[in-house]
Amino acid sequence: MCGIVGYIGDHEASPILLEGLRKLEYRGYDSAGIATFSKGELRYVKAEGKIDTLESRLLKENPIGTIGIGHTRWATHGRPSDENSHPHLCNDCNIAVVHNGIIENYLELKEELEKEGFVFHSETDTEVIVHLLKKYLNGDFEVAFYKAVSRLHGSYALCAITADEPDKILCARKDSPLVVGLGENENFIASDIPAILRHTRKCYILEDGEFAVITKNQIKIKDAEGVIISKKMQEITWNSEAAEKGGYEHFMLKEIYEQPEVFKNTLRGRLKERTVDFPELGISKEDVLNWSKIYIVACGTAYHAGLVGKTIFEKTMKIPVEVDIASEYRYRDPLVDEKTLVIVVSQSGETADTIAALRHSKSKGAKVLAVTNVVGSSISREADYVAYIWAGPEISVASTKAYTTMLITEYLLALYFAGLIGTLSEEEIAGYVEGLRGIPSLAVQVLENPSYKLIAENLKEETDAFYLGRGLDWAVALEGVLKLKEISYIHAEAYAAGELKHGTLALITDGTPVITINTQKSVFDKTISNIQEVRARGAKVIIVAQADDEASHKYAEQMVYIPTMEDFLVPVIAAIPLQLIAYYTAVARGTNVDQPRNLAKSVTVE
Ligand code: F6R
Repeated sequence: MCGIVGYIGDHEASPILLEGLRKLEYRGYDSAGIATFSKGELRYVKAEGKIDTLESRLLKENPIGTIGIGHTRWATHGRPSDENSHPHLCNDCNIAVVHNGIIENYLELKEELEKEGFVFHSETDTEVIVHLLKKYLNGDFEVAFYKAVSRLHGSYALCAITADEPDKILCARKDSPLVVGLGENENFIASDIPAILRHTRKCYILEDGEFAVITKNQIKIKDAEGVIISKKMQEITWNSEAAEKGGYEHFMLKEIYEQPEVFKNTLRGRLKERTVDFPELGISKEDVLNWSKIYIVACGTAYHAGLVGKTIFEKTMKIPVEVDIASEYRYRDPLVDEKTLVIVVSQSGETADTIAALRHSKSKGAKVLAVTNVVGSSISREADYVAYIWAGPEISVASTKAYTTMLITEYLLALYFAGLIGTLSEEEIAGYVEGLRGIPSLAVQVLENPSYKLIAENLKEETDAFYLGRGLDWAVALEGVLKLKEISYIHAEAYAAGELKHGTLALITDGTPVITINTQKSVFDKTISNIQEVRARGAKVIIVAQADDEASHKYAEQMVYIPTMEDFLVPVIAAIPLQLIAYYTAVARGTNVDQPRNLAKSVTVE
C-alpha cells in the first residue's frame, strides 16, 4: 500500500524522509521517491524497487533542502517503474505531488489536460493532480490546490509543494489516512504514524474533506470551504511495533478489521446507481456470448473463493462453471478451448501452480481473466484481462481481506457479465447492486459482535473440529476450516452437511465441536436435520445464522448471528466470524498468528 512522509523544518529533509519511508516498508511497496527544494529549485529522486535503490541514488544526487515530501508506491494505475513512482512533477518541474488512493475520473481529466498542452510522463492516475495544480496556479498555491482538489473524484491522501512558495506543504484527505505531526520549529506529515513516531507523538489526524497548510512553525487545518477548524491534538501512546499494526496485536487482526474500508475500495468505481461497470476490463458482450464454460483455477484460500464463485457465476450467467485446484488442473489435461473463460484467482499473482495453469489455459486457446491483488505481478501481466481486488497489501500469512475482496470482485464480475448478456433482469441486478452497496456497513456490524472470543475459549483445548454447511455455506465452511487449521493448528474438516452421514459421522462423539453455517433459506431445514444428526451423537454445536433466524438457537450451544441480508451475498459477511474465531483460538493457544509454522505468504514453488 502506498505511503506518504513529509517534512518542513530546519534539518535536511531527505534523511528524515528516507527514514520515514523505511518505517512504512512493512506495508508493501514497489518503488519510492522524494522531492525537496534546493536553491529555489525542486529536486526529485525516485526509483523502482527497494528503498536501498532510492538511497544509493540519493547519495549520488544529494537533493539538499529542508522541505520535502516522500512516497512509497504500491502500483495501482500503471506497472511499477521509475516513471510511475511518486513524486510526480508538472512539466516545468516547479510543483511536486505525492498521493495515496485512486482518482476515479483521471481519464477524463487527462484528456482535458492533454488537449490544453500538458504532457504526461507516467501511466498513473496521480499525474493529473500535478497538472491540474499547474493549470490553476496563478499567484496563490492554496487557491490552486483547492481548485484542483475540487476536480477529483475518488480517494486521496495528498501532499503538494511548489518552488514558487517554498515555505509550505499543502495536504488534503478523502478516504485515505493522513496525519500531521507537530514538532518544534518543524512539522511532519505521514499517511501512517510509524513514519514519524521517532520525531513526535503529537499529531492531528485529518478527517475526510479536510485540508492542511503546514509551515515549519504553524499547522492550519481547514474545511472544504477554506475555513480554519480547531482540532484536538492526539497524543500517540503506541510503540513503533504496535503503530505498524495500527494498534492491533497482529497484522491478521488489523487486516480483518480493515475489511469494511477495503470493501469500499473494491466496490469504488464499479458500483453504479443500478448496475455494475468494469471499464478497465475490456470484455465485450460478444466475448461473453462466445464463452460456453468458465473454469476457475486457484490454490488454497483463493481456491475457496473460486468455490463460492462457481455459484455466483452459474446463478447470474446461467453458464456451467468448473473449479479446480491449480496444482491438479495443470496436470489433468483439462477440457478447455477457445470457448472457455479461465479465471485464475490469486492474491499475490505469483503462485507457481496458478501461473502454470494460466499458461496451460492460454496454450489451449482459452482467454484468461486474472482476479488478483498485485499490480505488475506475473499473473496480472500474463492474463488477457485483469480484475483487481484492491485489498491493499496483506502481510499476515493467513489470508482474510484478500479472500472477502476476491468474493466481492466475483460478484461484481458476474453482475457485469450478466448485464451484458441479459441473463438477469435490470431489477435483479439493481437489487444485488443495492445489496453490495450495503456490504461495508454489514461488515462493521459483524466486527462489533463480542461472541468470538468466548467461542475461541471453548475451542482452544480441542484437537479436532468439524464445520458443516450446504451450498454457499459449505464453501464458506471450507475457508473457515483452513483459517482454523493454519493458525491454531487444530485439525479441522469442512463437510457438505448432507455428506457427513456417508462416513465421517463415525468421528462425531461426545463433545466434538461442530460449527455449522446455516444462512441459506433454500436449504435451511435440511441443514437443521443434519445438525440433529450430530447432536444425537453428542456434538457441541455452534451455529452461524442470520439475525432473523428464530429456529437455529434451539439446536446450538452457542450462536453467532450475522445481520439479516440477501442470502446470495452472505459468504462475504459469514466469512468474517470464522476468521475471528480462528484468530482468537490461535491467540488463546499461543501460536505465531502472523507467521504460522511451515507456511509462506507467496508460494512460488510447485
Ligand atoms: C491461506 C492462504 C493460502 C493462499 C494460497 C494461494 O490463508 O493464504 O492458501 O490463498 O497460497 O495464494 P495466492 O492467492 O497468492 O495465489
